[in-house]
Parts: sequence; C-alpha cells; structure tokens
Amino acid sequence: MSRKTFLITIVILAIILALAEIIIPHFKPNNKKNQGLTLAITDSIWMAPDTNQIPHSAEGELIRYGRMLIANTSYFLGPNGKVAHLSNGMNCQNCHLDAGTKPWGNNYGGVFSTYPKFRERRGANENIYQRVNDCFQRSLNGVELDSNSREMQAILAYIKWMGKDVARNKKPKGAGIKQLAFLDRAADTANGKNVYAQKCTKCHGANGEGILKPDSFSYLYPPLWGENSYNTGAGLYRLSRFAGYVKDNMPFGSTYKSTQLTDEEAWDVAAYVNAQPRPQRNFKQDWPNISLKPVDHPFGPFADNFSEQQHKYGPFGPIQKAKENLAKKKSS
Ligand code: HEC
Ligand code: HEC
Repeated sequence: MSRKTFLITIVILAIILALAEIIIPHFKPNNKKNQGLTLAITDSIWMAPDTNQIPHSAEGELIRYGRMLIANTSYFLGPNGKVAHLSNGMNCQNCHLDAGTKPWGNNYGGVFSTYPKFRERRGANENIYQRVNDCFQRSLNGVELDSNSREMQAILAYIKWMGKDVARNKKPKGAGIKQLAFLDRAADTANGKNVYAQKCTKCHGANGEGILKPDSFSYLYPPLWGENSYNTGAGLYRLSRFAGYVKDNMPFGSTYKSTQLTDEEAWDVAAYVNAQPRPQRNFKQDWPNISLKPVDHPFGPFADNFSEQQHKYGPFGPIQKAKENLAKKKSS
C-alpha cells in the first residue's frame, strides 16, 4: 500500500467512526427518541397479514370469499341470505372486528395455530369447523354450516391464511379477548344501566335492539339483547368475555391503546346487558366435567357451593380461589 492510499484509508476510517458516534446512539434502546420503537419490539402485538399478500390463485379466491363471509355473514347466510338461511342477521365481524384482525378485538390470530385442541366446554378435542359452528349456533343463534360447503371451506381458508405466520401451539399477544382483573365486588347492574344510557344507547338503542342498515341485510349497529341477539349459550353471555371485549373496543372506535371505559364500567355494563332478555338455548352436552366450568359460567350444576347468581355477576375472586384449592387437593 502506498503512503497516499494509507493516508486516505485512515481519513475514511476516521469519518466512518465519527458518523457512527452520531448514528449509533439513536439505535440504543435507552435513547429517549426511540422509546416508541423499543416498545414495539418488546411488546409486539399480533398483526394480521396484509390482504395484498392473498395469492392470486384458486386458494386465494377461497380466502377472499372467506373474508367476505366474516364481514357480511348475514348477506350470505342470514334470515334473507343469498346462499342459505342459517343465522340471526348478525355478522361474524360484529364481534370479530375488522374481519377478525383487530388487536384485542376478538381476532383470529391464535386459531389456526392452536386448533384442533381440547376444549373444556365440549369435554373433547374440537376442530376449526366445530369452533366456527359453535359461534353459528350460539353467537348467531342459528344452525350449523355444513363443513363440506364452499362457505365453510372459505372460512377455514381465511382463518388459516391469517394464522400462517404464527408458530404451532402459540397464541400470540393481542389475540382474542383480554381478561380483565376481577372486581372485588359483584358487578352492579344499576351502575351498568347508567353506563349504558351514557355510552351505548346512542348506537345500540334504548332497548338494545340495534339498527338495521337500509338494505335490511345486516346491522349498522347490532343488537345487544332481544330476539335477534346472541343466545345464553354464547361466549359474550359470560361476563368476563363481554367486559373484556367492550373494554378494548366499545364505544365503537376504542382500541386497546385508547380505551374509553374503566374496568368497573366494563364489568357493570356487561352485567346490565346480560341481565336483559335474550334467546335461551340449553346445550345439554356442554361441560361434561362440571369442575372445568369457568368461574363466570352462569348455569349450574357446579362443583362448588357458590350460587348461580354469584357465578353470573361475581364477585369471582372467591370462586377462583376455591377452584384453585380444589385443583391443588386433587393433584396432591
Ligand atoms: C355475538 C358475538 C359473536 C359473533 C357474532 C361471532 N362470534 Fe365467534 N366468538 C365470540 C366470542 C365471545 C368468542 C370467544 C372468545 C374468547 O373466549 O376469547 C368467539 C370465538 C370464536 C372462535 C375461536 C377463537 C379462538 O381464539 O379460540 C372462532 C374461530 C370464531 N369465534 C368464529 C366465528 C365465526 C366464523 C363467526 C361467524 C359465523 C363468529 N365467530 C361470530 C363471539 C362471536
Ligand atoms: C358509535 C356507535 C357505538 C357505540 C356508542 C357503542 N357501540 Fe357497540 N358496536 C357498534 C358497532 C358498529 C358494532 C359492530 C362492529 C362491526 O360490525 O364492525 C358494535 C358491536 C358491539 C358488540 C358485539 C356485537 C353484538 O351486538 O353483540 C357489543 C357487545 C357492543 N357493541 C357493546 C357495546 C357497549 C356495551 C357499548 C357502550 C359501552 C357500546 N357497544 C357502544 C357501535 C357502537
């Protein structure tokens, strides 16, 4: 190496070092300017794949149809459905927000990776067809969709595509509904009634009836109780599911990052709504092992001595404790 090139190399190295001194601190996790970035890495919440990635193939067509069915269920399968009449006029998307993609919005991020799996309600393994049909029969107060139908195959294809980047048996953060901390009192329907009047009536109606869209195929604002709502076998009929769902998603426009209800308001409005009349449906085959019922499953018989009233409205802490003690006794 000549003396000249040596000198040039030294100068270039010096410049690189000086630049590094300026640039590198910006990537250090404790740098103030980058706190947002650091958070996003350590606290990463599941994000659905971009719909632009849906392939242009026969499988892609099926995935797109599946997405359409989740968003416009009633148009295809509701009381006036173009394909069949199986359900109550609600759309899957009414509860699985943004076609099942919204973080903590009851999304499908953890479905394909975890099913088939043992479900305590069924007391047996359950596959995705059966899980979808649970919602048809309960949340949509309807009947089962044939698993060989193009519609079921499309829903499966869409759920599979959404979970394609999730490792087997993993439920990613932000998937499903958040579990709120239990209150140390029973949820209060009177306070819930006030919350409802102030924060929900405007869209869902004074009688929880919702508002149909002008095309009368589906709802602008879906019903929360009454004959067109989910039935007593549905997930939202459990207080913890309802409270967790509304905390991060209601009033409409709320997100887990910008909630508008306190935990107390969420539990109390859940109690008020679930105290109103709705379709009764008794699935006799549910919970073959009653000791596996969740603390907020509101129908006996129970493996403990707490009343149906307490299993419906809480306080749930003591029930949880009794359940844990029982499990300890069994394992020792
Ligand atoms: C009235 C509200 C509601 C409607 C409408 C609804 N679901 Fe659900 N769905 C729920 C609730 C609540 C759960 C349970 C979530 C939990 O416990 O974390 C659930 C769970 C599921 C799951 C399992 C999710 C998981 O992570 O294990 C699937 C799959 C599903 N629903 C599919 C559907 C499909 C498909 C439709 C439309 C045909 C539909 N649901 C309509 C409320 C609803
Ligand atoms: C600004 C209008 C608006 C307000 C206010 C609002 N919601 Fe909703 N809610 C919606 C819409 C719209 C949907 C359906 C979302 C979709 O299909 O994308 C919905 C869906 C729901 C669902 C699931 C579907 C169903 O009908 O069972 C529940 C439960 C719910 N809201 C509860 C509440 C509660 C409780 C409040 C008050 C704390 C509330 N909402 C306030 C507009 C609203």
